[in-house]
Amino acid sequence: MDTAISGTLAAPPLVDPYGRHVAYLRVSVTDRCDFRCVYCMSEHMTFLPKADVLSLEELDSLCTAFVRRGVRKLRITGGEPLVRRDIMWLFNRLGRHLDGGGLDELTLTTNASQLDRHAAGLFAAGVRRVNVSLDTLDPDKFARITRWGRLEQVLRGIDSAVSAGLAVKINAVALRGVNDDEIHDLVSWCGGRGFDLTFIEVMPLGELGDGNSGEMRLDQYWPLSMVRAELRKRWTLEDSDHATGGPARYMRVAETGGRIGFITPMTHNFCEACNRVRLTCTGTLYMCLGQEDAADLRGPLRSGSERLLMEAIDEAIGRKPEGHDFVIDRRRAQPAVSRHMSVTGG
Ligand code: GTP
Ligand code: 5AD
Ligand code: SF4
Repeated sequence: MDTAISGTLAAPPLVDPYGRHVAYLRVSVTDRCDFRCVYCMSEHMTFLPKADVLSLEELDSLCTAFVRRGVRKLRITGGEPLVRRDIMWLFNRLGRHLDGGGLDELTLTTNASQLDRHAAGLFAAGVRRVNVSLDTLDPDKFARITRWGRLEQVLRGIDSAVSAGLAVKINAVALRGVNDDEIHDLVSWCGGRGFDLTFIEVMPLGELGDGNSGEMRLDQYWPLSMVRAELRKRWTLEDSDHATGGPARYMRVAETGGRIGFITPMTHNFCEACNRVRLTCTGTLYMCLGQEDAADLRGPLRSGSERLLMEAIDEAIGRKPEGHDFVIDRRRAQPAVSRHMSVTGG
């Protein structure tokens, strides 16, 4: 049942005030996670009451509305998407848009802790590629970064993904003094397994740590220009025009034949080509990861009126900002955006 989406209204593509087509929707299906990565959550998080969270049917309706409006790529995120109860129902349901030609890609970003039991189901639903967050191959360091995670379980999840036929991309947040001694190992490990690898600059979202908390996130910021310079000492990086619709710029590693992507929100503003918006599990639409402005879609969805929902989506896209203004404010140690990354799923 598509609650508010009868498909009777005209559905023009979504174009923002800067002429950018919105063709990529990231959907956070839960704010919960079984890990507590230091750059994503505080150790003691208050999660949303269940009553505020949209049902899977409602999430399907909202995704379907966006697909009707020209979204071609859906990425399910969290928190950790695979900890949401019955989440496979949503993947199976959304898979119909792949079959119907409405979607080019249905995918997810996951910490892989639950991939062991879900990989085959994801493939059956039409998922062909997963992005796995993994910043280190050292079990102790992994436990420190994720606070609650076990590397062994994640590696098992990744193996299951490969066995199920899913392509894997590893996301590593570049953290000075934490995984800077491991970037070559990550390149060899991913290259040897045929995984793409993207490095990400850490963004100042949520609390930044006061310097005594052991997190010291401001000091951990490591510009990817420096990561690339370090990589060039060992690897031959060649230009690549590989593109996924995401913000990464890719290079090919001659020695492994693998690809390395660089996501540089802090040093290089990729906003001019932004094609995405983010929906949270409460039906809130964030038009930019790096801004506070948001639009409520739950009210219009629950009104049962497709017209009201489409108007709310249009109105929101009409407010999409030109870009983020992440700056690392060392003096005040204030985050650029106060919500945690786990609210929007990156
Ligand atoms: P691909 O489809 O493989 O290109 O994935 P993706 O990069 O679109 O998605 P993924 O979940 O792997 O994103 C990796 C990280 O890039 C996110 O978690 C964010 O940290 C960052 N990122 C993605 N999109 C944006 C964006 O619009 N703005 C900013 N500042 N960061 C983004
Ligand atoms: N800065 C950059 N990337 C982050 N992620 C989580 N928090 C941050 C942050 N503050 C990344 C994770 C994961 C994705 C969902 O977001 O590593 O790959
Ligand atoms: Fe969980 Fe991913 Fe956030 Fe880590 S980065 S706490 S795995 S949602």
